[in-house]
Amino acid sequence: MTTTCDAPCGATRDALLNQKGGVAKSTTTLHLGGALAAAGRRTLLVDLDPQANLSQFLGLPQHDHDNGPTLPQAMLHHPDDRDYALSLVRKHSENLYAIPASFDMFTLPRDLHASRSNEDRLTWVLEHLDDLFDHVLVDCRPGLDIDTDNVLHWAHSVLVPVELDTSSIEALKLLIAQIQTLAQDTRRTPPTYRGLVINRIPKGDPTLLDRQVRQAFHDLPIPVVGEVRMRDSLVRAKEKGMTIQQYDPNGDAATMYHSMAVQAGFLEATP
Ligand SMILES: Nc1ncnc2c1ncn2[C@@H]1O[C@H](COP(=O)(O)OP(=O)(O)OP(=O)(O)O)[C@@H](O)[C@H]1O
Ligand SMILES: [Mg+2]
Repeated sequence: MTTTCDAPCGATRDALLNQKGGVAKSTTTLHLGGALAAAGRRTLLVDLDPQANLSQFLGLPQHDHDNGPTLPQAMLHHPDDRDYALSLVRKHSENLYAIPASFDMFTLPRDLHASRSNEDRLTWVLEHLDDLFDHVLVDCRPGLDIDTDNVLHWAHSVLVPVELDTSSIEALKLLIAQIQTLAQDTRRTPPTYRGLVINRIPKGDPTLLDRQVRQAFHDLPIPVVGEVRMRDSLVRAKEKGMTIQQYDPNGDAATMYHSMAVQAGFLEATP
């Protein structure tokens, strides 16, 4: 069984990660994935959050751990089984695929703690799918535990959604420290930072604090690859199980996510 590629191979592997809740990790995964799919890239979105918000945003039912395959079952009991991994994948729309969440993700950290080689399990499962997709994005739950360590071992890069508040800066420092500590403890190369995405920027003129926090993010050595304003169309799109590119392809929100895909280095800029 191989564990990792030394250099990026097959699909790009990105974790949408921030232990702070409600900073638009799932929203970014959905619409960034939508932008990639709309550009013709075969894209897989993985919902690793037992809250299952991304699965709901996509209009996909959760996997039922009593009757069918689930990602935790694959990680814990079938990591060598490519067909099992393939059976987890659902098609959402052209070029856009997903592995939905399942209830057994609630107990995944506890179950992983009781397993051997427990930080490589996600890699073993998802690497079966590497050659089928151009991009794989994993939407993480808020929190830092062994399931997140699995994501960090699998990922080549990390995209960090943040919000315009001072607690987001503190949360980001904690995340950076966690990634560094994990790399030191395991003597592995940590994933690179693809960038920060500043989300839910309020409508209207920014306050002084908004401007200061925004500047603080721009002053960090991690590039800001997207700035997304509050948009009702994003809420309506998820209520219909659609990406913003499908719901309102000509609106400015779709443009924001396409630009993010370019800034983050997934897509070439169109002349
Ligand atoms: N730009 C935006 N405009 C309007 N609403 C937004 C925007 N971005 C996110 N939201 C809304 O904010 C809420 C939180 O977003 P989301 O669920 O993506 O955050 P999260 O970081 O994934 O949360 P959690 O930590 O619970 O997983 C959702 O209701 C989402 O629809
Ligand atoms: Mg979420």
